[in-house]
Amino acid sequence: MDVETLKEEAGIAACAYVESGMKVGLGTGSTVKYTILELGRRVREEGLEIVGVPTSLATRDLATDVGITLVDLDELNGLDVVIDGTDEFDPQFQLIKGGGAALLREKVVAQSSASMVVVADERKQVATLGAFPLPIEVTPFSYNTTKRAIEQSLGCNVSMREKDGILLTTDNGNYIADAHTGPTLTHPEETERKLLNLAGVVQVGLFNNMCDVVVLASSNGVSVLEKGD
Ligand code: 5RP
Repeated sequence: MDVETLKEEAGIAACAYVESGMKVGLGTGSTVKYTILELGRRVREEGLEIVGVPTSLATRDLATDVGITLVDLDELNGLDVVIDGTDEFDPQFQLIKGGGAALLREKVVAQSSASMVVVADERKQVATLGAFPLPIEVTPFSYNTTKRAIEQSLGCNVSMREKDGILLTTDNGNYIADAHTGPTLTHPEETERKLLNLAGVVQVGLFNNMCDVVVLASSNGVSVLEKGD
């Protein structure tokens, strides 16, 4: 089965966690895109009544296009659920996110949600985090100094993410440093703490103790993994 089909299956299956009346965080990426499309269809065709909070400008545009009512997170007293993709998840449901450069808003929204549902295909399931380079949002001021400080702190190479030959700028006006740790992140909470200690680091793409459920699509079908199973 091709990866796009798996993404679609996971994305649609996760909509089971959304009911009328809910305040829903809308993640970013090519898997959760299918969740947003399906939620939009349910809004238009089945009268689903939800408000959404997007985690990126791209998701804001997509959700608007498909007819989901959007609100500012600041207008709400928390969310019922956020559905989002991931770059990796480990057996403890710790995540690496930020492959789509939306980690800061994704993390703010996830921390405001009563529960987090992650949509993924089988390639995202790992024993130890870190084969996917760890995205770190950094402030543009003296970013090379911050990059060197991250290299020193983690003992690995770090590359600044580029798009179209120039440094990629996030929705928040920052840059992304990708840390090439390899699959060594056995203590992600400690790694996050160390990195957040560096003044130029805005946020780290480690989502620790946030994910409750993974809706996982593989060639054997869709399975729902719950934390602690
Ligand atoms: C964006 C993210 C994405 O959720 C993550 O990169 C997964 O994306 P995809 O479903 O396209 O593989 O964290 O910042």
